[in-house]
Amino acid sequence: MNLDAQHPLATGLTADSRLIRAYQGTRPDATPVWFMRQAGRSLPEYRSLRVGTRMLDACLDPEMASEITLQPVRRHNVDAGILFSDIVIPLKLVGVDVEIVAGTGPVLGTAVRTAKDVAQLIELDPAVLDETLAPITAAVARTVAELGSTPLIGFAGAPFTLAAYLVEGGPSKDHIHARTLMHADPDAWAALMDWTAEVTGRFLRAQVLAGASAAQLFDSWAGALSLADYTRFVAPASTAAIAHVRDLTYDEGAAGTDVAHTDADDADAASVRRNVPVVHFGVGTGELLKEMHAVGADVVGVDYRVPLDEANRRLGGLVPVQGNVDPALLAAPWPVLEAHVLDVLERGRTAPSHVLNLGHGVPPMTDPNVLTRLVAFVHEVTAVFADA
Ligand code: CP3
Repeated sequence: MNLDAQHPLATGLTADSRLIRAYQGTRPDATPVWFMRQAGRSLPEYRSLRVGTRMLDACLDPEMASEITLQPVRRHNVDAGILFSDIVIPLKLVGVDVEIVAGTGPVLGTAVRTAKDVAQLIELDPAVLDETLAPITAAVARTVAELGSTPLIGFAGAPFTLAAYLVEGGPSKDHIHARTLMHADPDAWAALMDWTAEVTGRFLRAQVLAGASAAQLFDSWAGALSLADYTRFVAPASTAAIAHVRDLTYDEGAAGTDVAHTDADDADAASVRRNVPVVHFGVGTGELLKEMHAVGADVVGVDYRVPLDEANRRLGGLVPVQGNVDPALLAAPWPVLEAHVLDVLERGRTAPSHVLNLGHGVPPMTDPNVLTRLVAFVHEVTAVFADA
């Protein structure tokens, strides 16, 4: 489906940004940079705005969510905003009893452990589901209006990572109940994954339709899985989740043409049809990179454990990569961080294109000035990497 003519990709506002060009596999005038968890506790302006508001309430307040999204863009000169929200928001919106406990993460009222629990999951009515997403689409619309030519990334949790929270009832180190369930009762597991893919896929699609220029699926905990389990029990649901945005396209070069003009052949001659780029990221997923690409992603996010040249090799040399500065080094002396970032950039050069990011989220105690300096440094040293 083609995006609305007013969408920032369709108007051309964000289509030629560094981020979108790199996600499409070309090297723009400088390597784009953004940080997972760039919005949040590392910023004093975030901490003061959040006083007295619970995390998920902040996500559901379009004005507040939009302001928090914009804070790191204003401060750091990053090449993208990422919507301030959370992977459990669509669960909350369909009625799952979930809260975010500071310092812990998502905690469920009751865990989904058995076939009976799965059968009792809220029945999904697509129309109602899309209606409940109104606070999210409102936050996206406000944000893209402010961002102008800086693209907004929409995101969602992958079915496995969400199912891991649902089955465990909260954060877990090894996700043992979830991994037991997939083998003990494959049908219940498949039903749970189908349900989760639908909920999270619609959340992702709603953000893109409302104005996000790219989509990132976070399978943060997929690294707990063997390749065989990932392929059999998880990949089909991740494919289904990504399918919710995979059909979204826009015509580049069509902007400025008479919108009332209906001769399709004419429009085709002047423009190229492109899809909305999709990024897929996980933690500790070095053994799964190829499969995480194969579920329908354009770009693979790499955590800090696998060097980007090795990740590129595993991906067959054809896939844009995103990553993978070790978040621990943000607190190291600048020359140490600088040397590490240069190494990441050099290794990233082996791939078709590279978006610099961290290997996981910004730690809350990070000095935000380090992030600002890092963005300027990357833009400066990578100007020479641009495609001719
Ligand atoms: O800036 C951004 O990256 C966008 C916002 C964002 C948040 N959560 C806001 C948030 C994104 C992309 C997420 C995704 C998310 N949420 C993931 C996938 C990415 C990852 O980190 O692997 C996961 C696993 C979650 C679940 C979750 N929500 C966790 C583990 C936590 C941290 C709990 C804590 O206090 O340490 C949250 C809460 C959360 N989500 C915060 C933020 C800014 C912290 C809330 C606070 O300010 O207290």
